[in-house]
Amino acid sequence: MAPLEKSISISLYDFLKKKMFVASTISLVGTETFRLNPGLVKTYWDFDDGFLMTAIGLPKVLIPKQYAALDRMLQASKRWIDSAYSQLDPKESDAEWEGNFGSKFIRKMTEVLAESGVSREGQAVAMLPLIWAINSNAIPCAGWMIFEILKHPGLFQRLREEVSPFMTSESTGKTRFYIPNLVFNSPLLTSLYLETIRTCTSSSPTRRLMQDLEVDGYILKKDNHIMASSWIPAHSTIWDVPGHPANSFWPERFIEMPKMKPKDPEEKSADEIAMRPENFFPYGGGNVVCSGRFFAKQEIMTAVALLVMKFDFDFEGGWVTKDGKTSERGAKCNESLAGSGVLTRDRDMVVKMKRVR
Ligand code: HEM
Repeated sequence: MAPLEKSISISLYDFLKKKMFVASTISLVGTETFRLNPGLVKTYWDFDDGFLMTAIGLPKVLIPKQYAALDRMLQASKRWIDSAYSQLDPKESDAEWEGNFGSKFIRKMTEVLAESGVSREGQAVAMLPLIWAINSNAIPCAGWMIFEILKHPGLFQRLREEVSPFMTSESTGKTRFYIPNLVFNSPLLTSLYLETIRTCTSSSPTRRLMQDLEVDGYILKKDNHIMASSWIPAHSTIWDVPGHPANSFWPERFIEMPKMKPKDPEEKSADEIAMRPENFFPYGGGNVVCSGRFFAKQEIMTAVALLVMKFDFDFEGGWVTKDGKTSERGAKCNESLAGSGVLTRDRDMVVKMKRVR
């Protein structure tokens, strides 16, 4: 942990990628995996960089580095599962959390997989989507949120005032949030989270047609796949309000838009239209809607609240490229990864950061 009151200069997203990955992954799969796989943070983000290309099945010959990163991540997962089986203390086999398997959820899942005849290797493979799910969307989202907080003058202080009642500091120096209170009683943090999800998420829920479907005079044939882009309606004019066009980031959008009444009381309000499930679906929809969306919201909002409460930041306008070169402009979403969820960014923010609690 950084010493109190000492200022350090860091690349903020790079910092978050390391710290938040370790915190989330320990809570899911325990601490042992980090001891067994000393370079796990780098292994993971290398795997994540190549995720889309390996997931869509590009051949190995075209993207050998990405497949090598996937192999390293699989080996790390296998090493961890093998060790967890051999090291688990039977007295802890029903614990909510212990260091070998991590959460009870993971222990129970490996039991179910083993009972269904899935090999150890298969179990190690099955864990990767879970580790990916808790990290690869939530961390970029928290990163965008903190960037926006620091870019909008006064927002940091307003958020600190909003979330401070939900934090308790213990005599041990540990800080705790009562997460349900934080999530349900922080309108500004919630609006900021939703605006971030709206502006930075590019999901592409995909379905196979069970029967022919007519859309706008075209027949889409049974057994073909269709994809819906969440990005297009999330950036369309339905979000335009005076002074705050759809392409601008407005932290208070999800507080203010619901208050705006339509000119004609018979009409739907702008908010009702924009929030329809066919217009705003970062988490997909229907019976396979993202089952981790509530977890994700809590994970993201808690991470941002912790940053706001525990640190002071000084952002003087410094941006860097991935290679660490100074940049004139700020970060933009990496649209070449369209369809993959919360998009990462092409610039990082250089800040002075000081732990104050
Ligand atoms: C900002 C964060 C996240 C975003 C934007 C996101 C987005 C999505 C999307 C678009 C889908 C496909 C839904 C569809 O086809 O209609 C999905 C599925 C899924 N997500 Fe997430 N997700 C996020 C975080 C998480 C987290 C943290 C978890 C786990 C704790 C998770 C677990 C899942 C699972 C298990 C599915 C498959 C659901 C099924 O097929 O029934 N997601 N997610």
